[in-house]
Amino acid sequence: MKTITRLRRLRAHETMRHMAREHELVCANLVYPLFVHPGIEPRIPVSTMPGVSQLSLEAFEQDLEELVALGVPSILLFGLANNKDNQGSEAFAEFGIVQQAIRIAKKRFPSLYLMSDVCLCAYTSHGHCGVVIDGKVHNDASVELLTRVALSHAEAGVDLVAPSDMMDGRVHAIRGALDKAGYQDLPIMSYAAKFASAFYGPFREAASCAPQFGDRRSYQMDPANTSEAHREILADKDEGADIIVIKPALAYADLIYQARQLTKMPIAAYHVSGEYAMLKAAAKAGYLDEKQAVLESLLCSKRAGASLLITYHALDVARWLQEA
Ligand code: PBG
Repeated sequence: MKTITRLRRLRAHETMRHMAREHELVCANLVYPLFVHPGIEPRIPVSTMPGVSQLSLEAFEQDLEELVALGVPSILLFGLANNKDNQGSEAFAEFGIVQQAIRIAKKRFPSLYLMSDVCLCAYTSHGHCGVVIDGKVHNDASVELLTRVALSHAEAGVDLVAPSDMMDGRVHAIRGALDKAGYQDLPIMSYAAKFASAFYGPFREAASCAPQFGDRRSYQMDPANTSEAHREILADKDEGADIIVIKPALAYADLIYQARQLTKMPIAAYHVSGEYAMLKAAAKAGYLDEKQAVLESLLCSKRAGASLLITYHALDVARWLQEA
């Protein structure tokens, strides 16, 4: 039989390959996570994440200059605590480190889109994402505090809040509190399907938030579950989330795709610390080409259905896209 379908015809010419391309990675997709710490040491390198540091407010301001110049449109802010306690009180302090960083960034770089992580784990003495009562992470007491965190970020001028704690009902509570305080237009990007993943390992050094007892499996999802992820996504949608996050990204691309079919909501793929560390380590060892592997990874999340890409590679990606 004669071959009639020849898919290679459209692959022969570079121009045609570009014209026929279905998905494209652009700078506008990028969200760069940043860690600010309350001390004066400008940059404290995170050993598990080469190229990532905990920043003082001053160093933070310098880095913003660089990333704005490169065209990175958005950052996701994480903070480190001075004094940790059971409630993670610094997380919702008026002049907590993230609240200060938001004020600085808003003033200096009004065009930069500011997202903030809403969680307690970097601020609690036990390292859990909520309040511990009788040895357990208490859902409703945690939600109350998370709502205060979100409000304090709103008051500082953040553009979007991103609750990552995985307590039930927190999107509803945060939406209600924001609306009541006059922040009806402030969007919520909820970590809808966040799995209890080994790939967060390096982040726990970056944010100094490793649980001091037990693990996060009583609130983060079991990596084995699909239907439960759908329920999480639909629950957050019903509660008023504007964007949903799937996390981690690469090993969970099936869920990015399914979330897209399920809700039609914008999706953010979080390329987490472990994914970053793996690529960095392999590139350093000479096992693969960093630029090609990073660009391919992010593009594949887009193909799966994500439009926002949260990645520690954002600065490099912005540089590479400019070169292209
Ligand atoms: C904390 C939080 C974590 C990450 C983002 N927010 C860690 C965790 O849940 O243990 C992980 C990010 C990464 O690994 O890059 N709520």
